[in-house]
Amino acid sequence: MNINIVEEVNKRRTFAIISHPDAGKTTITEALLLFSGAIREKGTVKAKGKKSNKFAKSDWMEIEKQRGISVTSSVLQVHYDNHQINIVDTPGHEDFSEDTYRTLMAVDAAVMVVDSGKGIEPQTKRLFEVVSHRGIPVFTFMNKLDRDGREPLELVAELEEVLGINAHIMNWPMGMGKSLIGLYDLYNQRLELRNPQDDEDDLYLPLNDQGDVDGDYDFKESSVYQQAMEDAMLLSEAGNPFDLEQIQQGKLTPVFFGSALTGFGVQTFFDAYVDLAPHPSAIETEDGQEVEPYSEDFSGFIFKIQANMNPAHRDRIAFIRIVSGVFEPGINVTLERTNKKLRMAHTTQFLADAREEVQLAVAGDIIGLYDTGNFQIGDTIYNGKKVKFKPLPQFTPELFMRVTPKNVMKQKSFHKGMEQLVQEGAIQLYKTYHTEEYIIGAVGQLQFEVFQHRLLHEYNAEIVMTPIGHKVARWIDPADLDPNMSSSRNLLVKDRFDQPLFLFDNQFAENWFKDKYPEIELKSLL
Ligand code: G4P
Repeated sequence: MNINIVEEVNKRRTFAIISHPDAGKTTITEALLLFSGAIREKGTVKAKGKKSNKFAKSDWMEIEKQRGISVTSSVLQVHYDNHQINIVDTPGHEDFSEDTYRTLMAVDAAVMVVDSGKGIEPQTKRLFEVVSHRGIPVFTFMNKLDRDGREPLELVAELEEVLGINAHIMNWPMGMGKSLIGLYDLYNQRLELRNPQDDEDDLYLPLNDQGDVDGDYDFKESSVYQQAMEDAMLLSEAGNPFDLEQIQQGKLTPVFFGSALTGFGVQTFFDAYVDLAPHPSAIETEDGQEVEPYSEDFSGFIFKIQANMNPAHRDRIAFIRIVSGVFEPGINVTLERTNKKLRMAHTTQFLADAREEVQLAVAGDIIGLYDTGNFQIGDTIYNGKKVKFKPLPQFTPELFMRVTPKNVMKQKSFHKGMEQLVQEGAIQLYKTYHTEEYIIGAVGQLQFEVFQHRLLHEYNAEIVMTPIGHKVARWIDPADLDPNMSSSRNLLVKDRFDQPLFLFDNQFAENWFKDKYPEIELKSLL
């Protein structure tokens, strides 16, 4: 295919939305789809209650029927402002799992949606920490400005303090809730009005040299406007200055205000986002080589495998982040781990307005490959020169269960299933130090349920899981370990690489241990 690969790659913007459930992730996605023209009606992205389930009926269910697989809204691809945006979903509360974290390894930036009535909530913080570790840019959208929320200054101070990142104010609310006049847009040097007095042209009013607008407008007399001007002045003098390099390194987050539900401020946000967020860049291999996105050779890695929950089918979808080259249907690739040659035939991409076989995809794009068991999470595929990307990080589990096979006669299938699913990254496995009892760890409850389901349906192994609850998992250098350190407040186990770790009952138990053994270093995974 005759394409300009540099131009295509530079158009890509691949991100995930990090937020706490209910902050407005779905609503802002929908607003973006509306602005881009991909959908014409609200209520299309996520079927909610009885209100609307068009999408569920027409698209997702159809693809499930046709392919016999379960595809949730994992990736959306949308054209916006001459760019190709890929949004990778980070599932919320109930389906939070290690997959959620791994997804963050496949994106070039994150959009952080914060409920301005609530501030930084726990799930946002967890996801932010993973993103921040990668040093990728984070664009903040303070949502729900149409409601009375917390003081903007307080919200920004909390963001900086809780997340440990500097913020640069891009626009500042002029009031909120019922008294919302609009946004004082420092970045674009204009006002964005909530309810323009005249025609459409007045939606944006340019700022003059005094940081005010020319002309007669009723709002100019209001205390809300005066206050916003004063705040804006202060922010431009005393706030963190705009610094693109720091933004792109994830050291400074640009902060925007708006309301996803009414669409107010959303376009301003995404316009700046496509301008400032990076296009896909080189990715390092295990041996320290850089793979350029513009390279002719195709390469990518698998960051998620979505198993089918329907017992009638065994196929799965492997999600591939393309790192370099051009993907065209039917290309031949090598799976690095096994050296096996594969023809990439049954692939799918996830356009917002049509879900279809991949025609063309380049670095930054995510494609789904129907898999019958070839792939594992973290696998590299390539054609041309052999490459192997770094393994995906492992994440510290927080929830734990003891596991035993229900039927001792079926030990063999239990062990086989256990081994394969653990290797695939579906769950973390530990054994108690002396008695070698199995303990599994996950970051979310659903992971256990999927694991149990898959063991039963794919390996015919029924298990009994006994919850042992939340634990704080901390690794210890084997050289430092004295089994007497184990007490009633912790459980000493080893991971599947035989490395010892303590499962502390809570933070207090960890602190108690640290006080008792100040010279011992305890480590967490990511
Ligand atoms: P999530 O995907 O992050 O979980 O959140 P989602 O977009 O589903 O939004 C959660 C709730 O917050 C929804 O209300 C949604 O309408 C509301 N919401 C999102 N953005 C805004 C906003 O800018 N302003 C206001 N006022 N509300 C907002 P719900 O009652 O749970 O659902 P629905 O019945 O309205 O769909």
